[in-house]
Amino acid sequence: MRVMVVGRGGREHAIVWALKKSEKVKHLVCAPGNAGIAQLAECIDIAESQFDELAQYALDHAIDLVVVGPDDPLAAGIVDVFEAKEIPVFGPRKNAAIIEGSKTFMKDLLRKYNIPTAAYEKFDKYVDALAYLRQQSAPIVIKADGLAAGKGVIVAQTMEEAEQALQEMMVGKVFGNAGNQVVIEEFMAGQEMSILAFVDGETVRPMSPAQDHKPVYDGDKGPNTGGMGTYSPLPHIPQSIIDEAIETIVIPTAKAMVAEGRPFRGVLFAGLMITPDGKPKTVEFNARFGDPETQVVLPRLKTDLVDIFLAAVNGTLHELEIEWSEEAAVCVILASGGYPASYPKGLPVKGLDEVQEALVFHAGTATNEQGQFVTNGGRVFGVVGLGATIAEARAKAYADADRIQFEGKQNRSDIANKALV
Ligand code: AMP
Ligand code: GLY
Repeated sequence: MRVMVVGRGGREHAIVWALKKSEKVKHLVCAPGNAGIAQLAECIDIAESQFDELAQYALDHAIDLVVVGPDDPLAAGIVDVFEAKEIPVFGPRKNAAIIEGSKTFMKDLLRKYNIPTAAYEKFDKYVDALAYLRQQSAPIVIKADGLAAGKGVIVAQTMEEAEQALQEMMVGKVFGNAGNQVVIEEFMAGQEMSILAFVDGETVRPMSPAQDHKPVYDGDKGPNTGGMGTYSPLPHIPQSIIDEAIETIVIPTAKAMVAEGRPFRGVLFAGLMITPDGKPKTVEFNARFGDPETQVVLPRLKTDLVDIFLAAVNGTLHELEIEWSEEAAVCVILASGGYPASYPKGLPVKGLDEVQEALVFHAGTATNEQGQFVTNGGRVFGVVGLGATIAEARAKAYADADRIQFEGKQNRSDIANKALV
């Protein structure tokens, strides 16, 4: 088979790496990819947003399967473009990707089908939103409706902060049109977990759960990022809670999408909060693999990934049993100095050839004229250790994370600590 992956981050590197292990895959293309992906796949210079060019490439090069990584092209309908040309593609159509692309859609869906989530109200007028907000108390959560590169959610600890966030979104338009509507939501305390699932209509095949670390600094301090590190599985979370989340949230949501005439095919990613009463509630849904959740989940997958993608595309996912290894995985993100605000690019990377045991997924790299790897993004690498326990996997990830150097490098030093207590 000839397979094309769309995207350029660590998630896509992990997908390409997993596909490369399949005997069925003869040729791998990634558009546009990055310097690490280029070691495994042919990278082509077409951006994720160039749907027609991507589809034409797939037709001209007899691509048998396309896999779309990021949220923006999915929300904008890339899958519909491929399907119209009868190119097999793994990912949700535009009318299903909206579960991530619009928080008001998602919240209304969950309310309609009685799926557990935080109480909320939605607004498209600033004065109404402000009047409602002033009747609430902090902490409280303000969310821009649309996609905002992971930054459209403000967990406000004070009412001043909440009012400021609302003003910035709805009046200042800091997230552009994504802030035309906002959701004001009850704050949920608790422990977060992510359950990703392969979904085709009503068929749900959950992946092993993972936990991300969104704030940039140790101890969950500082602004939110795309994710500074992950681990999987979650030994400190009882299987009964994981099962309950699948039964009460993930499966009912897949069914609700079918009932709404928006069947979901692809990876449905539930961000969940385990509230102090032990009940899982929905924080958000994404319509794609998580980044960096994918980097710890796919190395633990025993089933051939291409078989899963094909089963979803062909409507036979219900016949497939998916197997996971018992190993633990921990991913430490190495980020550019300054991230998630502005950061330099083009800084040379040293020590990649000294890495011993970890898998190194490139999130934002390029090669310079001398053929050296240089930084090319906010998140630069995801260093993944595998081991019999989280502690072992974590030690391996950090040992190799320390071997990779570039100016201004920052990483959290407490990834997976919650699983060790
Ligand atoms: P999201 O972009 O929707 O994943 O939200 C980013 C982060 O904000 C989540 O991972 C949570 O840590 C936090 N968050 C979102 N909604 C809530 C909520 N209702 N209560 C507490 N934390 C929340
Ligand atoms: N790591 C969170 C996300 O991919 O949205």
